[in-house]
Amino acid sequence: MRLDKALSLAGYTRSEAKALIARGRVCVSGEAVRDAGRSVQLCEVTLDGSPIDAQQEVYLMLHKPAGVVTATEDKRLPTVVSLLPEMYQRRKIGPVGRLDRDVTGLVLLTTDGQLAHRLISPRWKAEKQYRARCEGALDAGDVEAFAAGLELSDFTAAPAKLEILEAGETSLADVILTEGKFHQVKRMFAAVGHPLISLQRLRIGCVTLDEALAPGQFRRLTDAEISGLKQSAQLSDG
Ligand code: URA
Repeated sequence: MRLDKALSLAGYTRSEAKALIARGRVCVSGEAVRDAGRSVQLCEVTLDGSPIDAQQEVYLMLHKPAGVVTATEDKRLPTVVSLLPEMYQRRKIGPVGRLDRDVTGLVLLTTDGQLAHRLISPRWKAEKQYRARCEGALDAGDVEAFAAGLELSDFTAAPAKLEILEAGETSLADVILTEGKFHQVKRMFAAVGHPLISLQRLRIGCVTLDEALAPGQFRRLTDAEISGLKQSAQLSDG
């Protein structure tokens, strides 16, 4: 196969592959190669001296727009996976947890099922931070109610941190949770009498939505972001 194809199987976009090759970071059987069309076997290709493993895990962040479902497939609507280039769709990549169709913001997508599972399991307590716009003026009583653990119809929410950023006819607040039940944030705001107007996820664990990403755009996580997520999930970064 062509060298650029081998890099795409390892998860690099065409332009990333081109830049890596141009900078001499890609070797075939130990020799730097500048020809993206060179015929290679996957096992001969190294990047910065390490074998490129087509099976290596992929970790991405996506700025989810409204109107897109957090699923791998849907008969009617675009999914977070359908927003990615085909090379990622071929890799059995899936979203970490779910956001409602109308909710925007950070979605992590990965092929690493074990990490995904730990980030959504309440047992590992990965924080999820949301920015919420709600009706009415939030006050200190609401902060206390969130911190105490709200009684919802079918469960008691774990204590959550509410930070009020603006309070008036509508309010703006950040909320940090360590669990993610169905419509949880919407239900928590409704339970204190402040129905949500809009909701955006800003952070999961140590990974914050990159402000440079417009809705619909994605990027690969950095090595530091991947290690931070793995450390918080007590997975070795080997
Ligand atoms: N809470 C909600 O209500 N919806 C989401 O999408 C995420 C958290």
